[in-house]
Amino acid sequence: MIIAVDGPAASGKGTIAKALARHFGLPHLDTGLLYRAVAATVRRLDLDPSREADAVAACDFDELTLADPSLRDDETGQLASIVSAHPLVRAALLQRQKRFAHQPGGAILDGRDIGTVIAPDADAKLFVKASPQVRARRRHAELTGRGSEASFDQVLADIRARDARDSARATAPLTQAADAAALDTSNLTIDASVARAIALVEARLAAR
Ligand code: DC
Repeated sequence: MIIAVDGPAASGKGTIAKALARHFGLPHLDTGLLYRAVAATVRRLDLDPSREADAVAACDFDELTLADPSLRDDETGQLASIVSAHPLVRAALLQRQKRFAHQPGGAILDGRDIGTVIAPDADAKLFVKASPQVRARRRHAELTGRGSEASFDQVLADIRARDARDSARATAPLTQAADAAALDTSNLTIDASVARAIALVEARLAAR
């Protein structure tokens, strides 16, 4: 059984995917972390993220990089969005994600192109979304809680920039798969979002 969860930055897809993994007892891969590891490696080696060859060289990142907490910061997210637009970077990470998705026993993956490219054959697909304002409010609260002084307007501008880049790229852009169930979390608590996600997935599995 494969569950695909896609959506824009700060939509709640990561939290939802983790909760679904627990609920259904499936291994989970946050595919954004792979692109973030490439971004962090580009930065560490002082490479140019806008040069495809530089970004491809960083795809051979050290596995220990995946455990680095700084991968989660916004700067790395923006850089990940830049390196992820290169087709050869996506190609370099493709097999690893496909293998994870198709492991015996099933899996759940979250990202931007799981339902469209990595596992078009997924048994259930969710597209998690929320308005840019709501996503910026959540991200801003999270950053403020961690002691950051980022302004709300800056966070909102960053979210819009990342949405635009992730949606406009030619290869595997962020888009809702035709057979994905949409889940708008704008007016839902985390608990309500998770309950709704479980219900949507169960309905999809029952209809197979
Ligand atoms: O989900 P995230 O914020 O950790 O993702 C960081 C960036 O990585 C995102 O802006 C675009 C890219 N990404 C992607 O292109 N495809 C994926 N499946 C996951 C992430």
